[in-house]
Amino acid sequence: MAGLGVALIGTGFMGKCHAMAWRNVATVFGGAPARLEMLCDTPKDRAAALASRFGFARSSEDWQTVVQDPSVDVVSITTPNALHRRMAEAALRAGKHVWLEKPMALTLADAEAMAALAARHPAQVTMLGYNYLRSPAFQAAAKMIAEGTIGRPHAFRGVYDEDYSADPTLPWTWRMTKAEGGLGALGDLGCHLVSQMVTLMGPVAEVTALTQVTVPERLSPDGPRAVENEDSAFALVRFVSGALGSFATSRVAQGRKCRLQWEVQGSDGTMVFDQESMNELLIHRRGEAGFTRHLTGPEQPDFAAFCPAPGHNFGFNEQKVVECRDLIAAIGGAPSRGPDFAQGLAIERVIHAMATSDGQPVCIRETAHEDA
Ligand SMILES: NC(=O)c1ccc[n+]([C@@H]2O[C@H](COP(=O)([O-])OP(=O)(O)OC[C@H]3O[C@@H](n4cnc5c(N)ncnc54)[C@H](O)[C@@H]3O)[C@@H](O)[C@H]2O)c1
Repeated sequence: MAGLGVALIGTGFMGKCHAMAWRNVATVFGGAPARLEMLCDTPKDRAAALASRFGFARSSEDWQTVVQDPSVDVVSITTPNALHRRMAEAALRAGKHVWLEKPMALTLADAEAMAALAARHPAQVTMLGYNYLRSPAFQAAAKMIAEGTIGRPHAFRGVYDEDYSADPTLPWTWRMTKAEGGLGALGDLGCHLVSQMVTLMGPVAEVTALTQVTVPERLSPDGPRAVENEDSAFALVRFVSGALGSFATSRVAQGRKCRLQWEVQGSDGTMVFDQESMNELLIHRRGEAGFTRHLTGPEQPDFAAFCPAPGHNFGFNEQKVVECRDLIAAIGGAPSRGPDFAQGLAIERVIHAMATSDGQPVCIRETAHEDA
């Protein structure tokens, strides 16, 4: 089978990450190499330079042309949040498969519309960039918890903190507006924690949350401007299973770089993960004195595909290669490992419920992510 024709829109942090994934996926996992057809960014000369560097055959500064191109089967969308809905919907309408970075969209209404459109295009695969679901340690944790290694899970405690906005003197950016950024820490970071939380614990029934803006105004070139979305959020969570959880996320947590950290407490043990040490799990089983450190290694299939040696560590960008492998498999007819747009909508419902709760319980009772 010929490799898929790929278009990449956006060449920043995530654009480069998707480009590396498309270039490496056949080397790591086998199969036909993707055909890197079109790269899109602005302005035109930047797009041309990056197409040459990333190995794409052609380039354009016009994303509408790119999503219509007949050589393209799948579109990787790695642009800022405000462009996600327009670009994803145009790609779906043009008959393409879509690999879209999180969060899905600026608003819940936009995410609902996108999921509805994807449902009307069942032959086309959608995938959202929840790469942290793909690390071997996380996959091992999810499997062990599902198999009952720590018994029946009754509590989840999760945090996703970074400090990229912690310095109060940092300038205002578009990420701090509802119109361009959408949600704040919840949309940027919290959605990743929700993706892991619901994979481990099952769907969320209800949340009660508070949000905080710690720096209400920041300096823009036009003078001080208001920060419109949350710097941090704190929530209590009730799962459909009856288990309970605590959840917090912040973009102003001094010293925290990628503290995507959780623990699941069960009737027979506790499991702990922290993305800053993404190659290990800490596991306590009932009766033991403390926690045992489990390192990732080639006994986990998605580790072995990259490296035969235990403890040699799997990295952030490699998660994207695994995600790309799963996308290609779904396009080839394998069951989707998600999150697709329907499962992504379930994640959006949780973060938007947290954003609007203002200390009151918000019922969700969604079940769409149950299979993730
Ligand atoms: N999955 C993850 O772990 C992860 C990490 C970081 C960011 N993200 C998400 O990825 C998305 C992009 O974030 P980023 O950090 O890569 O941003 P970035 O600013 O580094 O890159 C955005 C890219 O989009 C391009 N772009 C903007 N408007 C365009 C247009 N009209 N046509 C073509 N290209 C255009 C920019 O020139 C730039 O190359 C965001 O939605 C963000 O939430 C996901």
